[in-house]
Amino acid sequence: MKKLPPDPSRRTLFKAIGALGATGATSGLLSACNRSPGLDRASLTFTEVPHGLDASHHLPEGYRADVLLRWGDPIEAGAGVFDPEGLTAAEQQQRFGYNNDFIAFMPLAEDAGPGDGDRHCRSDSSKRGLLCVNHEYTQPHLMFPGYNDEYSATRGVSAEHVAIEQAACGHAIVEIEKTPAGWQAVLDSPYNRRITLGTEMDIVGPAAGDPRLQTAADPSGTRVFGTVGNCAGGKTPWGTVLIAEEGFGGAFQGDPDAIADPVEARNHHAFGIAPDNRNWGDHDPRFDIGVEPHEPNRFGWMVEFDPYDPESRPRKLTTLGRFEHEGFTLACKPGQPVVAYGGDDDEGQFVYRFVSAEAYRPGNHRANRNLLTAGTLFAGQFNADGSGRWLPLIFGEGPLTPENGFRNQADVLVDVRRAASLLGATPMDRPEDVETNPVNDCTYVMLTKNKRRGADDTNAANPRPRNAAGHVLEIVPPGRDGERDHTSDIFRWHTFLLGGNPNAEDPNERGAYGQQVTGAISPHGWFANPDNVAFDHAGNMWVATDGCEDFGFHDGLWAMATEGELRAAPKHFFGCPQGAEVCGPEFTPDGTTLFIAVQHPADGGRSSFDNPMHRWPDNDPALPPRPSVLAISRKDGGVVGS
Ligand code: FEO
Ligand code: CA
Ligand code: CA
Repeated sequence: MKKLPPDPSRRTLFKAIGALGATGATSGLLSACNRSPGLDRASLTFTEVPHGLDASHHLPEGYRADVLLRWGDPIEAGAGVFDPEGLTAAEQQQRFGYNNDFIAFMPLAEDAGPGDGDRHCRSDSSKRGLLCVNHEYTQPHLMFPGYNDEYSATRGVSAEHVAIEQAACGHAIVEIEKTPAGWQAVLDSPYNRRITLGTEMDIVGPAAGDPRLQTAADPSGTRVFGTVGNCAGGKTPWGTVLIAEEGFGGAFQGDPDAIADPVEARNHHAFGIAPDNRNWGDHDPRFDIGVEPHEPNRFGWMVEFDPYDPESRPRKLTTLGRFEHEGFTLACKPGQPVVAYGGDDDEGQFVYRFVSAEAYRPGNHRANRNLLTAGTLFAGQFNADGSGRWLPLIFGEGPLTPENGFRNQADVLVDVRRAASLLGATPMDRPEDVETNPVNDCTYVMLTKNKRRGADDTNAANPRPRNAAGHVLEIVPPGRDGERDHTSDIFRWHTFLLGGNPNAEDPNERGAYGQQVTGAISPHGWFANPDNVAFDHAGNMWVATDGCEDFGFHDGLWAMATEGELRAAPKHFFGCPQGAEVCGPEFTPDGTTLFIAVQHPADGGRSSFDNPMHRWPDNDPALPPRPSVLAISRKDGGVVGS
């Protein structure tokens, strides 16, 4: 039996300036996953960007942002110039997809070619690599002429446009290289590839082949065409990429109550499948649950693929459960099981952890490739005393029995939300990225918001009713900073920050940041709605937001220390063009380039293809606004942020 780890807050107690009101989160803000005060001073010296809202993006002085890949840009030689009004599904298949989200930079070794992932994933090149980018979802009213608004484009999309949308979703793998003129796509690269809703993939793990995953087109329940709702993701040290299936329910239409099987009716309701969802099912019957009630059970998984092998088949990993996956990120230590953390981005859903059955063996990539196909999934329980526990989701244990409707482990994984709830996992305020800081080895949970949390329904880890601004939690596994045991079933947790304006009058709306230096946060340093996160070499946290326009300014990136006297004191680094959110922050290994995905620019109100709010990034009257990946660097070539 393991003991709870010592609370790092006992070592260093500081004065917090942020007023907390009656939220009960005070102890968290005063505590720390502290190791080396002063580390924060090593970087984050950039000049802050002001809060604002306009049709441009904004960067600190001395930085440049190159538009690297836009929706419609060719990723194959010969695809030609993008003409949005002449676009076909076949052409979209050769082009960068819509609404870029997660980004993985996978270095390429000079002495290796396609299929040689072992050698490539030992490379730390920051000059040549594969940019692996999710394309989360499509917005026909901003992609095609003739739709007045979002609703008409949702319910009345033509067969031709549905085919283009399905080719614009999924993922793109594009070789890029750093040239004297900046980063450029290599169009004749053998690695370049699109993964779309037409890409055949395998279903593996305990739910593979289960009758609930079988369809008329696939009686085996082990093969499925495509992936959708690809939000955030993760990378493995054995050279594969993990991509999430988040809002898959929106791809399916039909009335769950008309489904004969009450188990599936409840299941489809839980993921928002409804008669007035988008009308893909009119033209592609597998997206109509009245025709194929099991097809949604083949979505909502994490997908793993090998970007270094253009012939490789992606795999859906049922071991990691079925929910609205934001992403899964790994904490790997040689000779130990692999630990992966993920969030279910819906109000009142849970934080998850996976522990592999087998140990990670550096260099033995063939063996490591199956690490995520066998192991145990857990749901997080965050207790009021700052302790926490990972609850195993195992058929036959506790309430996960036939009496509660679980026939086997496949049922536990397909209906994992219900299983986690029965176990007593803590309902959270929309868990998005969950990622481990490589410097202090603590794990951070981005909680975007939950306006539906009632005043009598708060808990210590989600302390605010009608949480409009979101917050960030810190998970501290047992062990010393930098060497923590992520396989332990117990942990401690702290509130790292509460989003929102630190000067808001209502204590439930007031932001709280951990600054110990008066004036450490400027009027532009606060933010709301943390969504994606990345860590730099110094262990600084870079938070991408989704929702700040509700607070009067653009979404963007905020960077902050996780340790020392400037712990949880954000600085504003990047501002989006209006309508957009930032996704997928990803540094090159040397930290000199930061890739970000600007998603859904010019979205909102009556903005449409025919009458857009603006036309970022091209600002060309012949082109609509285009979701784009930016490569951000310092003009002097230095490390980003420092
Ligand atoms: Fe796709 Fe949870 O953001
Ligand atoms: Ca997200
Ligand atoms: Ca989002």
